[in-house]
Amino acid sequence: MGTILIVHGSKYGASKRYADECARRLRTSAIRFKDCADTALRRADVVIYFGPVFAGGMPGLRRTTKRVAALSRPPRVIIVTVGLGDPSLPGNTEHLRGIVRQQVPPSIADVAECFHLRGGIDYTRLSLMHRIMMWMMYQHEKRIPRDQWTTDTRMFNETYGGTVDMVDFQTLTPIMASLGVAD
Ligand SMILES: Cc1cc2nc3c(=O)[nH]c(=O)nc-3n(C[C@H](O)[C@H](O)[C@H](O)COP(=O)(O)O)c2cc1C
Repeated sequence: MGTILIVHGSKYGASKRYADECARRLRTSAIRFKDCADTALRRADVVIYFGPVFAGGMPGLRRTTKRVAALSRPPRVIIVTVGLGDPSLPGNTEHLRGIVRQQVPPSIADVAECFHLRGGIDYTRLSLMHRIMMWMMYQHEKRIPRDQWTTDTRMFNETYGGTVDMVDFQTLTPIMASLGVAD
C-alpha cells in the first residue's frame, strides 16, 4: 500500500469528517489541501482527496492534482466527491465524474479512481455567496412540478433553509477495500 497522503478541501466539515475517519482507519492523519507540502506529495504512493461539490467546483482539487501531475513519479490518485446528491440515482455518478474531469489534468483524470459520498448542509452556517447560490438553486427546484421530483429534488426542497446530515462512515468501505484494508 505504501505511504498514503489524505488531503481535503472541506469548507463546512463533512469532507473533513470523512477524511479524518479514513485517516483514523489507515493510522495516519488528514490535512487541508492548503497545508500540503511538496515533500509530502513527492513521498506519497497514494494520494486520497476528499472534497465538497459546490455547483461544479471542488475546492483544491485542481490545485492538488496539477501538482501531482507535475511529479516525475505520480502516485495513485483517489478522488472522493462529497455532496448532497444521491450517487445511486441515474445520471448522478456520470455528472460527478464530469465535474472531476473538468478540474483534473487529463493524465490524472484518465487513471484516478473516483468515489462519491453524501455530505450535509446547515444553511445557518453558509457564507453569504453560498446562501445566494442555494437561494438561486431553490428558485429553480421549487418550480419543478411535484410529480417530476426525483428523491434529490424532494430532499433539496424539503431541507432548504434547514439542516441535513447524510455523512455515513459505512460508505467509506469501498474506498478501504480498494486499498486492501478491512474495516
Ligand atoms: C453553494 C453550494 C453549492 C452546492 N452544489 C452542490 C452540487 O452541485 N451537488 C451536490 O451534490 N451538492 C452540492 N452542494 C452541497 C455540498 O456539496 C455539501 O454541503 C457538502 O457536504 C459540503 O462539504 P463540506 O461540509 O466538506 O464543506 C452545494 C452546497 C453549496 C453551499
